[in-house]
Amino acid sequence: MTAYISIQDAIKQGKGKVSLHGWCYRERGSNKLRFITLRDSSNIIQCVLEKDKVSEKVWKEAESVKIETSLELHGDIKKDERAPTGYEVVVSDLHVVGACDNFPIQKDQSVEFLADNRHLWLRSRRMTAILKIRSTIFGAIHQYFRAHGFYEYQSPIFQPTQAEGGSEVFKVPYFGGHVFLAQTWQLQAEPAIFSLEKIYTLAPSFRAEKSKTSRHLTEYWHAEMEMAWSRFEDIQDHAEGLIKACVKAVLETNKEELKILERDPKKLEPTVKKAFPRTTYTDILKELEKKAKMKVEWGKDLRTVEEDKLSEWHDTPVIITGYPKVVKAFYMKEDPENSKVVLGFDIIAPERYGEIVGASQREEDIKKIEDNLRKQGENPRDYDFYLDTRRYGSVPHGGFGMGVERIVSWICGLESIKDAIPFPRTMLRYKP
Ligand code: 4AD
Ligand code: MG
Repeated sequence: MTAYISIQDAIKQGKGKVSLHGWCYRERGSNKLRFITLRDSSNIIQCVLEKDKVSEKVWKEAESVKIETSLELHGDIKKDERAPTGYEVVVSDLHVVGACDNFPIQKDQSVEFLADNRHLWLRSRRMTAILKIRSTIFGAIHQYFRAHGFYEYQSPIFQPTQAEGGSEVFKVPYFGGHVFLAQTWQLQAEPAIFSLEKIYTLAPSFRAEKSKTSRHLTEYWHAEMEMAWSRFEDIQDHAEGLIKACVKAVLETNKEELKILERDPKKLEPTVKKAFPRTTYTDILKELEKKAKMKVEWGKDLRTVEEDKLSEWHDTPVIITGYPKVVKAFYMKEDPENSKVVLGFDIIAPERYGEIVGASQREEDIKKIEDNLRKQGENPRDYDFYLDTRRYGSVPHGGFGMGVERIVSWICGLESIKDAIPFPRTMLRYKP
């Protein structure tokens, strides 16, 4: 008997003896011949048993195999044009490892049913493909930051204050008091740039947003960076570089998965090849009015409809700077040339995938930060530790946050962000 190898490696081997283990993906047959399509994490392959050519015991076991039965088998692999992945294993020995009840998931089931059975649906070829791409993207994020001299650093999830808007924060009981789940790593990340200068994280963030959209999760993974001595352009360059790195890694690593998802790689290639357009909020308002007759009052945040319209005009992400101060977070630096706007930017993905990055230079003027906090109904004293970053040797600095599921969603071409994470948490669902 040979050592167990993956289905993909067996296909690479192409001929001779193989030992495989996995789960039954499909099965059919007669009382003389049985076809079992085996799947593992790497691929699927058709396996065939002839009653006359195997022992009675093996035939009996093969007859008991149902969809999702786990099994091990030994046989000879050969090319077969008719088989789904071009190869077939003629089985000589087979052993059931874990018997299977009737598998609840069959063809054409409702989105709700699949969500209820998420723990089983993860095994689908579709989810397997998405999870592989997700893994590539997580790897690419770590690689990008490490290659550019950033240290990996962690902020606490239990937070003393809000950071991105008090109405969207989860409050958690804490020994008679309460804390908040982190919306961002930022307030405890900024103090660390005085130590490490360039830092990043890849961690969960939590938003109690009452949005039932295809873009919002209550728990999502957040790739964030913060750097000392930055110019506003440096933050934009790194955000663009990171997005390019994620797309490039998937195009190189996940051709098969993109095929399974019927995602055309051509839609992603411009992002790697072209520089992202950099424009301003004010120019976007003019463009929206001129090209789409969409009138947005200056000072109002861009809504989904406007972002979607904008994304139709570009085949790469677009960087938008110069947002009105009133719609942005308290820590964003006021533009020295125009006090109505901030040195912050959002990046909007193509194909109506919305905001993928939020970023800014950080305000250094304590008075301005305090003023912004008061306007939001916050007490600046609660942020004293944060304000210390401006008291003791402050330097120009900034950073961004990228929603990883938004990136996964766009790269995979998903209809909903819920499929971009194994167990989605939304306003309406926290199970299974
Ligand atoms: O724009 P946001 O709120 O920015 C921050 O949190 C900054 N503190 C980041 C920083 O400068 N360190 O969030 C950043 C990104 C958004 O652009 C979006 O991609 C994603 O996080 N995001 C969400 N993703 C999924 N579900 C949600 N509810 C999200 N809210 C934000
Ligand atoms: Mg934002």
